[in-house]
Amino acid sequence: MKTPAKILAAVLLSASVGCNHLPGKPGLRPETQRPDQTHDFATLYKTNCSACHGDNGKNGPALPLNNPVYLAWAGHDAIQGIVSNGVPHRLMPAFGPGAGGLLTAEQVEDIVNGMMKNWGKKDVLNGQNVPAYNPGSAGDPTQGQAVFQRNCASCHGADGKGVAGGPPHVTGSIVDPSYLALISSRGLRDIIVAGIPEQKMPDWRGDASGKPMTDREVTDVVAWLVSQRTPHPGTMVTPADKRKNQAAIAPVQSRGGR
Ligand code: HEC
Ligand code: HEC
Repeated sequence: MKTPAKILAAVLLSASVGCNHLPGKPGLRPETQRPDQTHDFATLYKTNCSACHGDNGKNGPALPLNNPVYLAWAGHDAIQGIVSNGVPHRLMPAFGPGAGGLLTAEQVEDIVNGMMKNWGKKDVLNGQNVPAYNPGSAGDPTQGQAVFQRNCASCHGADGKGVAGGPPHVTGSIVDPSYLALISSRGLRDIIVAGIPEQKMPDWRGDASGKPMTDREVTDVVAWLVSQRTPHPGTMVTPADKRKNQAAIAPVQSRGGR
């Protein structure tokens, strides 16, 4: 399979070969910036991040990045690490040169600083008893289920599959195997601690009726969610579906001979 890096390498190679054989061809004009020379945050963000994290850091398919609670909680260094190295086995790509990404270390730095400067609020966590960024243990799924009942079920349903007639903005199941396969434990902890302000998902402090979650409660509820991952996500085929599929395939197979 072609990775974007390979595709880019191929394009660059053919371009440089082309130059060598076209004597009259003008060189790069000074105003034509190569991608690795851009240091403008808005351009870098739009080109590399907005497709997944949304224009201006919100309303994309992946988590909002313009959330001041997230930015203050995770901090510059952790965010720089994620942007440089990506999230292994998940959809978040690595952008840093050391991990085969397409940006220079300076550009990664430009993006992280730009996020902090444009979307961050330095003092937003001052005086707050916020859970640790990294979990201190693997967590206890049984405890986590109880935490879920107390802190989450009112919006997400007792089983996490949503509530009939519940808040209209809660859209789907958060225990769906396909959803849990797409998000890491890190990503779940991020959502639970930092919330999703534009969608009214509260941060660890809960909604008006809730009480703040402790570090341990966050860790346990993540453990409960993760315990529902299945080894083969996406195979949500029931036995009845299977029989139907086999019936549909059978005539084709027999036509093709043995
Ligand atoms: C006041 C209502 C409310 C409470 C309480 C609440 N959530 Fe949410 N949550 C939302 C809304 C609204 C969304 C965004 C819409 C959606 O994804 O369904 C959301 C989104 C999420 C998502 C991301 C889903 C996605 O599509 O990316 C996760 C994971 C999640 N919540 C977990 C929890 C957990 C765990 C708790 C308890 C610790 C909790 N929520 C408490 C309302 C709530
Ligand atoms: C192809 C989609 C995609 C692109 C492009 C992308 N991201 Fe992500 N990003 C994700 C997903 C999905 C996650 C959650 C990964 C997980 O499960 O932990 C994520 C996670 C993150 C996180 C960790 C916070 C969190 O959401 O839990 C940061 C920070 C981040 N991305 C920054 C960026 C920046 C900055 C860029 C552009 C340089 C970028 N991302 C480009 C999909 C993407």
